[in-house]
Amino acid sequence: MSKFYKIITYGCQMNIHDSEKIAGMLALRGYAETQDEALCDVIVFNTCCIRENAEDHAFGNIGALKQLKKRKPSLIIAVGGCMTQQQGEAEILREKFPFVDIVFGTHNLEAFGILLDRKLSTGKKVVEIKDSAGKIIEGVKPFRTSYPNAWVNIMQGCNNFCTYCIVPYVRGRERSRALINIFAEVNVLVKSGYKEITLLGQNVNSYGKDLGDGTDFATLIRKLSEITGDYRLRFMTNHPKDLTEELVKAVAENEHCCHQIHLPLQSGSDRILKLMNRHYTSEDYLEKVALIRKYMPDCAISTDLMIGFPTETEEDFLDTLRVCEKVGFSSAFTFVYSRRRGTPADKMEEQIPEDVKKDRIMRLVDFTNGQTRDFSVDYAGKVVTVLCEDFDKKKGLYMGRDEYGRMGYFSSERNVIGEFIDVKVTSVNGISLFGEIA
Ligand code: SAH
Ligand code: SF4
Ligand code: F3S
Repeated sequence: MSKFYKIITYGCQMNIHDSEKIAGMLALRGYAETQDEALCDVIVFNTCCIRENAEDHAFGNIGALKQLKKRKPSLIIAVGGCMTQQQGEAEILREKFPFVDIVFGTHNLEAFGILLDRKLSTGKKVVEIKDSAGKIIEGVKPFRTSYPNAWVNIMQGCNNFCTYCIVPYVRGRERSRALINIFAEVNVLVKSGYKEITLLGQNVNSYGKDLGDGTDFATLIRKLSEITGDYRLRFMTNHPKDLTEELVKAVAENEHCCHQIHLPLQSGSDRILKLMNRHYTSEDYLEKVALIRKYMPDCAISTDLMIGFPTETEEDFLDTLRVCEKVGFSSAFTFVYSRRRGTPADKMEEQIPEDVKKDRIMRLVDFTNGQTRDFSVDYAGKVVTVLCEDFDKKKGLYMGRDEYGRMGYFSSERNVIGEFIDVKVTSVNGISLFGEIA
């Protein structure tokens, strides 16, 4: 008889890729994926705690399974990820959701399969959270469903301790994978037909610092350029303080690298950046932008922005808009500051009232949406090359991104998923392009 699982993932790309590893461990044990919870033998929550609403979503959805578990006691419910890795969280889960069978963290994600085996053989609840991260574990084969795109971790953890951020506490210190292992994984993916590889890390620009042999991110980008084939290379996320000229050159010289860089600004106010412990000023940030454009004049730069950090004044907020104006971002993820237990910013006295935050986020979203529209406004009539990644059933059109991140929609009589397609743009809607095969 078939066994089924569903994984519910919250948070960043790294967590989505972690879920592929969890799926790999389930596939190895004979489970098949389904979206139908009633059919499931195992349901896994891979959680996030970057902002309060991410935790609220997970809590709500775990709670909603209580009835299903009552009807089907053999159903195994597992909760892992960044939220469970927080200190004291396993106890909170135990009290709130006594019906959860397995609790694990980010530091022992690779042991999920063994924890599941243990639960199945003993029938007892399994709660295992490791205090420290330990070495990178190789060899867990992800179960990928994202063809033609594939994600590859190049490092784990973060050393930056931005004062608002929980990530260093739940992901541990920076640990880089050996260059040869990354090379081998990317090579196999390209040779087996994947067309877009995204290298993942909380701060890919500090890749290699812990390896102690002089290897850095630029070395990795140059090494990967030896892999031949018809594919694109992307990477995320960058930290402005660690983005070097050598790296920008390596990216510009690697013909597979997309001319798109995600460079989180967070705030345009030097005072706030200092309080955030970001180690750059708005001027430094603009210099990095200039550096990127020196080698790649066409490079699209996207960003993360946050409003409502403690003590943020209207003038600080306007500084953020001014820097956005100067850069001209291709797109921006915008966030309202959320207090995180145990972080320095949580202890700062002057927190910003909700109504002020609401007002600022609305103005910010308006502004950045305008920039996103500007980025594509004159695209009608142009031909763009997109990598077709899916068929949009609602629109009845194939879809794919160009190298700069714009989504293009077009019709095709045959299935072109996984192919690079030249699309002649006929109309533009925001960052979405509509057109026909050129
Ligand atoms: N390591 C990456 C991404 C971290 S999380 C980086 O440094 O860029 C992604 C984004 O979430 C961050 O860039 C930040 O804008 C936002 N974020 C992090 N902590 C937050 C918090 N406490 N409240 C609101 N947004 C937050
Ligand atoms: Fe968080 Fe800063 Fe690390 Fe990004 S660089 S994960 S924002 S601490
Ligand atoms: Fe990612 Fe959320 Fe963890 S953003 S690293 S899943 S806290």
